[in-house]
Formats: sequence, C-alpha cells, structure tokens
Amino acid sequence: MKTIVVDHPLAAARLTTIRDVRTDNATFRAALRELSLLLIYEATRHIETVDVQIMTPVAKTTGTALANPPLLVPVLRAGLGMAEASMALLPESQMGFVGLARDEETLLPRAYMESLPEDLKGRPVFVLDPMLATGGSLEHACGMLTSRGADQITVLCVLAAPEGLKKLEESGLPLTIITASIDERLNESGYIVPGLGDAGDRQFGAV
Ligand code: PRP
Ligand code: URA
Repeated sequence: MKTIVVDHPLAAARLTTIRDVRTDNATFRAALRELSLLLIYEATRHIETVDVQIMTPVAKTTGTALANPPLLVPVLRAGLGMAEASMALLPESQMGFVGLARDEETLLPRAYMESLPEDLKGRPVFVLDPMLATGGSLEHACGMLTSRGADQITVLCVLAAPEGLKKLEESGLPLTIITASIDERLNESGYIVPGLGDAGDRQFGAV
C-alpha cells in the first residue's frame, strides 16, 4: 500500500479551517470542497492519458484526453462534501455511492446503501471519505469494490489515523492512500486526535 501526504501551503491552510472548532457548517463545507480539489489534483498526477488530434482556430495539434477516467465513490454521509469538487475536476467520470454508518459503541461500520456498477475490472476507482479512523469503514467500502473486480483503488481522505492506515495495510487490498495529514492517534471513543470532530456533523449538523 502506498500512502501520499499532500504537503502544500493551501492544503495546510484549508485543513486548519476545518479543524477549527469555531468554523461553522457552511465554512467547513467550503474549505472541505477546496481541500478536495487539491487531493484530487494529487490523485490524478499519474492518471493514464491518450493523445488526441485536434484543430485549434489556427492549426492542427496533438492534445490529451483521459484514457480511463476513474469511477468516483463518495462514502455517505461525510464523503458527499468531496463529491462536487471531484466531479468538477473529473467531468468525464461517473459516480457510484456507498452509505456507511459507524456504530458509536462497537465502532463497526453498518452498510445502509450501495449503488455501484457490477463490474469494476480494469476500472480505476477513487473512494472519497474525509476520515480514516479505525479503518473499518474504508476497509468495508473497498472490499465492496474488490468483490466487483476493482484492482486499482485510490482512497482520498482529509485525515488518517495511524491505526486506520495499519488496518488497511494489513487488509492486503490494492490501495493507494492520499491524505492531507496523518494525525497522532485515536482517542478512547475512536475519534482522531487532534482531528476535526465528526466530519458528517460538521458539514450537515448532528442527526
Ligand atoms: C465517519 C467517516 C468515516 C468513518 C470513519 O462516518 O466519514 O466513514 O466515520 O471511521 P472508521 O475509520 O473508524 O470506520 P460515520 O460512520 O460517522 O457516518 P457519517 O459520514 O454519516 O457521519
Ligand atoms: N469519524 C469522524 O467523523 N471523525 C473521527 O474523528 C472519527 C471517525
């Protein structure tokens, strides 16, 4: 498993906004969107391209197109805040959805929704979820993808805990992780420290 930490002043500044407890829901959503653009930019750095012949108003030239645009999969709810930014940079892509809710006592994910293509063989997939905490949710989501044949999965998250990275590494899933920060640890409630709190509640309010 490859892990890339995006090291950029704009990412650090947006991350600071979303960590700050004083940031309201609307400002949180805007900063998450902007940070997601930077994560997508990094995730697509080595994406496969093909040459295309085009005509400018002046002359023929060779341009570039994406050879195999990734399927985008936000993990509901919190991953919704990364969805619009990813479609903005990847308008060629399609989007699937996975709904997972972590049980607050057991910290295990419960799947409540899935809308995914049946066959993902040979298709790159970008999974969008701001938080990698215990890793249970992303292991479950990525398992749903590999069971459909996916073998190139990139996980885009804002924060990763060392415990979650270790779990995903040990899962043997074919993953690349792109994150804006590897934080210190999980607390006794399974929250990332220093973290940003509950990423779903901070965007949409507590349910
Ligand atoms: C959050 C987050 C991840 C999960 C991470 O979602 O968006 O999906 O927790 O925790 P884990 O790594 O320990 O599994 P949550 O289940 O709280 O649902 P929400 O997005 O609806 O708020
Ligand atoms: N899910 C969140 O939203 N935040 C955490 O810190 C851990 C899991």
